[in-house]
Amino acid sequence: MTLSRRRAILASALAFFGLGHKSVRGATSGAHTGFLDLNNAVSFPTSVLNERWDIVTFEATLSTPKGDKRLQGALLKTGDDVEGIGDVRAFCTICPHEICHVEFFQETERFRAISDAVSGQPLFVCPCHFSVFDPIAEGEAIGGPAPRGLYAFAFEVTDNEIRVTGIEAGVLELLS
Ligand code: FES
Repeated sequence: MTLSRRRAILASALAFFGLGHKSVRGATSGAHTGFLDLNNAVSFPTSVLNERWDIVTFEATLSTPKGDKRLQGALLKTGDDVEGIGDVRAFCTICPHEICHVEFFQETERFRAISDAVSGQPLFVCPCHFSVFDPIAEGEAIGGPAPRGLYAFAFEVTDNEIRVTGIEAGVLELLS
């Protein structure tokens, strides 16, 4: 029996007994003020992120004082936790410098010249002015002119579903 099949059976059994897990990264608005709710949650089955560096991209919509804004994002598995989602990250792929779209690269040797912090690890890189962001370090900017790291989406995991529900409130400064 394959690992994914065993995981599916275990998840079904847990759900049957009401023991399915729910975990949350980030925090949506309400009691917490650091994140804004998206207009609609974006959902994926957890099975889309099986192995380290699996990535799925998505678009979400956020209401702002200047109207609805489209936000591009990426869900990324940064570790080898085959049974869990503690290594999943969700980043907004709009560059905090001047709103270009960052791209994900697994092979990054060629970017060593941009930043001393590049040591061959997978990275997000902006094609406009070559800001570099480290997904392992929560999207921190490690090179280039970006004034901060990538904005984070909030997401929750319930049973077999990942739901992206919010975005760091600071993104409004970028979009204004
Ligand atoms: S817009 Fe990304 S580095 Fe300038």
